[in-house]
Amino acid sequence: MKNTIPSLVAMKENGEKISQVTCYDYSMARLVNAAGINTILVGDSLGMTMQGYPDTLPVTMDEMIVYGRSVVRGAPDAFVIMDMPFMSYQVSVEQAVESAGRLIKETGANCVKLEGGAAVEEQIRAIVEAGIPVCAHIGMTPQSANVFGGFKVQGKGEEQARRILEDAFIVQKAGAFMCVLECVPPKLAALITSKVDMITIGIGAGAGCDGQVLVNQDMLGMSGDFKPKFVRQFAQVGAMMEEAYRAYDAAVKDGSFPSLEESYVKSDSSDEFLAELDKQY
Ligand code: KIV
Repeated sequence: MKNTIPSLVAMKENGEKISQVTCYDYSMARLVNAAGINTILVGDSLGMTMQGYPDTLPVTMDEMIVYGRSVVRGAPDAFVIMDMPFMSYQVSVEQAVESAGRLIKETGANCVKLEGGAAVEEQIRAIVEAGIPVCAHIGMTPQSANVFGGFKVQGKGEEQARRILEDAFIVQKAGAFMCVLECVPPKLAALITSKVDMITIGIGAGAGCDGQVLVNQDMLGMSGDFKPKFVRQFAQVGAMMEEAYRAYDAAVKDGSFPSLEESYVKSDSSDEFLAELDKQY
């Protein structure tokens, strides 16, 4: 059954936790959907996980749209959220509405996500007024990593903690129905969750949020040595895949793949005909 804003809000009201994972392609989206994950974030983390950049900044709108479309086709039941890439909404309110519109229109996703609190209040308001649901993202906002001096926990001191709480109120008032809290200390994240009506989704923000999100490759053990403190690896898929590639490489090289059972033997030409071809050419 399709996850929708009313069904997700009902989950929050009933105290049921909401699951979210990032996803960037059709084949993974099918698996995520089959597992019953409630929401998929087509995160601009794809700049790192799928494109090998050191951060999310180079990702473009056109690239987001290609990945987003593939995910939507593979996940008919999950509520799909499209990240707005760096510089697709910061320039002006008009730019933000236009970019959000493209992401929804050209992918078929259900919602957009943008980073920031008070700084993007007007953008959130205008996008929501255009009829597009918004997920906000506060705390550690990776598109501003250059400002923070890296990917660092936010909300540590009292002043920062108050600012993040106030940002939560601001994005909610602007119309966000969901908000990612990234790398926020757990008690602060729980307090924010208890104070707002919107759905909070934590990443590195403790168990007190309404739901949790993890980057797909991180939770599957596919990110090499990169393992932030808050990540749990639910499987070692990376190691399994590498093992499979090694086995395939060896089987190709020793001639054991493909076997006769893996070949179209029955529809092959007769020996007589092949002998004739052999003579002719
Ligand atoms: O881009 C992304 O994957 C994200 C999550 C880390 C929340 O924004």
